[in-house]
Amino acid sequence: MATETSLSSVFPLGSRLNERGRLEVGGCDVIELAREFGTPAYVVAEDDLRSRARAFVQAGHDAGHEDFQVLFASKAFPCTAVLSLFAQEGLWCDVASGGELHLAVNAGFAPERIVVHGNAKSTAELRMALELGVGLIVVDNFDEIERLASLLAGRDGSQDRGGGEQGVLVRVTPDVRGETHEKISTGQADSKFGFAMAQADDAIARVRAVYGLSLQGLHAHVGSQLLTLEPFERAAAELAKLGEFPVWDLGGGLGVRYTEEQLAPPSIEAYVGAVVAAAHAHGIGPDRRLLIEPGRALCANAAVTLYTVESVKHNVSRWVAVDGGMSDNLRPMLYGAPYEAQVADRFPVSDPPSRRGGPTECVLAGKHCESGDVIVRRALLEDPRPGDVIVTPVTGAYGFAMANNYNGVPRAPVLFCRDGDARVVVRRERYEDLTARDVR
Ligand code: LLP
Repeated sequence: MATETSLSSVFPLGSRLNERGRLEVGGCDVIELAREFGTPAYVVAEDDLRSRARAFVQAGHDAGHEDFQVLFASKAFPCTAVLSLFAQEGLWCDVASGGELHLAVNAGFAPERIVVHGNAKSTAELRMALELGVGLIVVDNFDEIERLASLLAGRDGSQDRGGGEQGVLVRVTPDVRGETHEKISTGQADSKFGFAMAQADDAIARVRAVYGLSLQGLHAHVGSQLLTLEPFERAAAELAKLGEFPVWDLGGGLGVRYTEEQLAPPSIEAYVGAVVAAAHAHGIGPDRRLLIEPGRALCANAAVTLYTVESVKHNVSRWVAVDGGMSDNLRPMLYGAPYEAQVADRFPVSDPPSRRGGPTECVLAGKHCESGDVIVRRALLEDPRPGDVIVTPVTGAYGFAMANNYNGVPRAPVLFCRDGDARVVVRRERYEDLTARDVR
């Protein structure tokens, strides 16, 4: 009799259903994790993060580009344990604010391996980057170049970093659109990020004229959750038109699979191979430094979120309400992003000859006070009941990052799991944390 249960390919590497029919992530039974650490919780398979980091680095070597650096876009999962792991794996780091810069340095990234982004960097953030001696500042606009010029003009020689000059990339918006949600598309001509192609030469000339800055090259980021390679190749071609430079940063953006139904994105190897080949084809030779900035593709599939069902009711649809929602995962609400959900100890039985009823179609709703707080609009759950643990995979990118305290809900902890051992790397917020910043 067929009683096989199926585990979707979007779960973290090494996930399985154990003998009790329960999900295991990083060798840990998630029902036990929920019992011990509570829900909601982000559960990360540590080995999954490591193996994706290694795959990116290896792919660069295999593609024949020696000076190929993989920068983790820290915005995707700005958590010290995740950053430290990637620092240990030899990655570099991309930060987009003073706060992310603080996190990256605190997590162990050498400043020279940090690249600083932002379309509205403050003077304080620029000063911090200069004082730390970050590897590269990616300038976005003329105002920022002038601000850097005045910061450097006020600097005496004793404050200079070892190498003297601050390395800079000029960010351009290459007028390349990839197919993705409008809110995460950045490479179009009228973007809030970077210089228009027509202004790139002036920006390059202005940086070159500033004492203390060293123009190293160019940067472009087309967009996020891109599922084809062609926009990356076009961006490399556009950038290459702007001259000869020692450093080229092609941004991040490789998409991931959120549900089994979604078409598979290009593999890490295919993506890196295509980016390197496009660079070489357009004159960005193997002797240049090539940077990429993956965020989502390094961490999205490495984590799942655990919730507990609080109530089940029938109002036209069957509503399954859990103890989290838009405070731990804003993506469905912001981008209409699709997710899967399962009861963590009752995965669907595939092809059962004597199945009664089958999975129940439900709306998986959060606990927040607005109707938009729906995590999965059409979830197929096995007979969900209050007290069940629900798991949603692919929550490792931009879930923790965009977590918030709407309705005074404390933010969820992060658990790292490996070889059957679980450890808390970020504790759950407490009610006292909600009042900790009050000034009386
Ligand atoms: N580099 C730059 C300059 C970026 O702006 C971004 C993402 C990345 C790298 C990393 O992109 P990734 O490889 O993760 O696609 N909150 C949105 C995503 C916003 C991405 C913004 N920039 C979401 O949840 O989909």
